[in-house]
Amino acid sequence: MQLDVFLKKVSINHALNMLLWHIAEAGIEIAALIKQGALAGVTEKMTSTNVQGETQMQLDIRSHEVALAQLRASAVVAAVLSEEEEKPTMLETIDAPFLVSMDPLDGSSNLAINGVVGSIFSVLPNTGVSTLGEQAFLQPGQDQRAAAYIMYGPATLLVLSIGQGTHIFTLDHHSQAFVLTQQTVTVPEETSEFAINASNQRYWQAAVQRYIGECLQGKEGPRARDFNMRWCASMVMDVHRILTRGGVFLYPHDNKQPVKAGRLRLLYEANPMSLLVTQAGGESITGQGDVLALQPTDCHQRVPVLLGSKQEIQRLRDYHQQIHPQATE
Ligand code: F6P
Ligand code: MN
Repeated sequence: MQLDVFLKKVSINHALNMLLWHIAEAGIEIAALIKQGALAGVTEKMTSTNVQGETQMQLDIRSHEVALAQLRASAVVAAVLSEEEEKPTMLETIDAPFLVSMDPLDGSSNLAINGVVGSIFSVLPNTGVSTLGEQAFLQPGQDQRAAAYIMYGPATLLVLSIGQGTHIFTLDHHSQAFVLTQQTVTVPEETSEFAINASNQRYWQAAVQRYIGECLQGKEGPRARDFNMRWCASMVMDVHRILTRGGVFLYPHDNKQPVKAGRLRLLYEANPMSLLVTQAGGESITGQGDVLALQPTDCHQRVPVLLGSKQEIQRLRDYHQQIHPQATE
């Protein structure tokens, strides 16, 4: 079943369906650029940095432009917040029903090694951006109307939730259409696989030290079984693995740069991924509560993210409560 047919079947919100169709079109265009590799200049670095101080790749900018053009063309988006721009872009359709925040090219450092990258989108209701300005984006993740990522891997995938489960579509390169290939994904509750950037271990807090320490002890430790580890340096790819075969993905609070509590951005990484994972039966917490319940305070705010299989995230929640009792759940 093609994406447009699926959307018509499951949702009567025509404006939302239109928006998701344009997000998919952006994914198809970006996929074509990525496929061309160095021939499309995708591996070239810019001299500029983004609002986070990260060096931009040429494709970071191109992806931002492609996605913005598609969102504008949908005529149902009032404003767009992007990782690549400090301030949201206000569109001509300022009273349209939706706001979109996006990471147009997640994991872009992987481009240099021909690794997997993705695009992430979060759809919020427009609660009055014409008067509130950028404040209108500061809505908790539980208010999202939809979330999606596109994964530019060996196959190009669109993973989507409108709050009725999480579904996977595969791009048919012949017809240039996304086709439903897995309806209602379920994250296995139990797992023996974790993903964390272990080079930061000395900066982690005690709860995460304990959790990972116990996994590493394997059969001989308190978990009484061996664990496996993966780290892709691309949130889209790590989250996709968790959606398809379970596990946990942790980018916890660390003390490396105390001003940055976590690495991942709440409005265009943590929130949309948390909606997709929880809609597939997984959980997503900061260590101090559910990611989706967090009231944002800044458009580019960073948060700790611990997400994945239910039982493991429950264990991490317990360890945080026991070890950091000042944390409020
Ligand atoms: O966008 C942030 C991001 O690139 C994620 O895609 C990824 O999970 C993480 O940062 C990688 O972090 P690190 O550079 O510490 O491996
Ligand atoms: Mn990113």
